[in-house]
Parts: sequence; C-alpha cells; structure tokens
Amino acid sequence: MPVPSVLVCEDYADLSRTAADLVAERLAQKPALNLLAATGNTPMGLYAELVSRRDALDVSRVRVFQLDEYAGVGIEDRRSLLGWLVRSFTAPLGIPEDRIVRLDTAIEPAAACAAFEETLREAGGFDLAILGIGSNGHLGFNEPPSDAGAPTREVTLSAQSVETSAGYWGDAEVPTRALTVGMRELLASREIVLLASGAPKRAIVRRALGGAVTPEVPASFLQEAKRVTAVLDRAAWCGEDEA
Ligand code: GLP
Repeated sequence: MPVPSVLVCEDYADLSRTAADLVAERLAQKPALNLLAATGNTPMGLYAELVSRRDALDVSRVRVFQLDEYAGVGIEDRRSLLGWLVRSFTAPLGIPEDRIVRLDTAIEPAAACAAFEETLREAGGFDLAILGIGSNGHLGFNEPPSDAGAPTREVTLSAQSVETSAGYWGDAEVPTRALTVGMRELLASREIVLLASGAPKRAIVRRALGGAVTPEVPASFLQEAKRVTAVLDRAAWCGEDEA
C-alpha cells in the first residue's frame, strides 16, 4: 500500500515555498493541469507564493476545480469560498473565471453536484489536489463520518466547521449546509498535497497519517490514496520520537 510522504518544513513560510515548488513543477510537466484548490487559511501562503512567481508560470491551460462551497451562497457574497479562491489565487495569477469548475449554488444541489462530477469525468479527473485538513479530520466538507466512496454532495456542517468558518469572517452568519467534492473524487486524484500548519493541527495530522483508517477521520483515507505528500510545518508535525 502507498504511504504518504511527509515533508517537514521549518515554518509556515517554508511550507508555502515548498508546496509552491511542487505545484510549479507539476504545472511545468503538464500545463493543462486539472488542479483542485482548497480554500481555508492554510493554502493562502502557497497561493501568494505562486502569485509572486507568476511571470515564471504558464497557467494558460490549467483548469481549477473548486473544493467546497456553502449552500445557496453566490460568488458576490463575502462568505463565498469561490470568491475567496478567485481573490487569493486565480485572479492574481491571471486564470480567467471560465477556467474554474465550480459547485453551482444557483441551482438545485444534487444537480450542481452531478454537473460537477460530469465535468470532472470529461476532463479526466484531478491531476493534483491541494487540500487542507479540518481539526475534526475532514477534507473539504466531508465531515466525519465520511467513507472513501462518499460522492460529491450536499452536507450538513459539523458544529466545529461552523465555528471555524465563523473565524474566517468575524461575526458573519455561517450557513449550516454546504456542497463538497466527495471523498471518492478526491481519493481518485492522481496526486494529493495535504497542507497543515500549527500546533492545533498536530493531533489530527497524526491520526490522519498514522492512525486507524476510518470514516471517523475522513483524512485517514489518504493512507490508501495514490500519491500523497503531506507538507507540514514543524508545529503541525509530531514525529514518532516526539509522540
Ligand atoms: C475548512 C474547509 C476545508 C479546509 C479546512 C482547513 O472548513 N472546508 O476546505 O481545508 O477546513 O481550513 P484551514 O486551512 O483554515 O485550517
């Protein structure tokens, strides 16, 4: 069985540069990359790093896939995860919005998820998925319990996710329903980069990468995925000698 590789970086800046090196390399190898890009705080340094290297990157053929979105929230809403992705990543890199495959919140959720999956199938699946990890072990909004076959779907957010989301925009009301790319689609990605930073993530990183593979920790299924690299800073890493 493949085992996730772990790159332990000095700090968050080092993590962001290390992840950017990897993404830039994959883009150079395959300019028509199908790239799934998470939001959340953790990948923001990576995106800023890629933006700073913009002149050296050819993003003209990349397709960016959204990971998750709050139900009923459109891009013009300040809580929109798509809006966050556009502001932090695709727009400053010069990737036009028609190169983004989104979870369409303007239509019925089941139809939006089916359309996303169909587009992904036609595109040939994800080449690279950039993921963060929730403190309850979620990937995207695949909340525990989520098994490896969970499809792209509408979900109810856990109390923990609602709390984390509230932290993104202060006192804004947090929706309790969301659309997420499924475990099934994420785990089928030809490559996955998992990013985690800071001591609060240490316990869940340990469970995800070294604990039992269980729907109670959806990220633990990464132990069974194809080519996974966890890019962590020291604070988020707990090696065996430090257990
Ligand atoms: C959020 C999002 C995920 C994100 C994760 C970690 O709730 N649904 O897509 O990867 O939790 O977020 P952060 O990077 O802010 O810790």
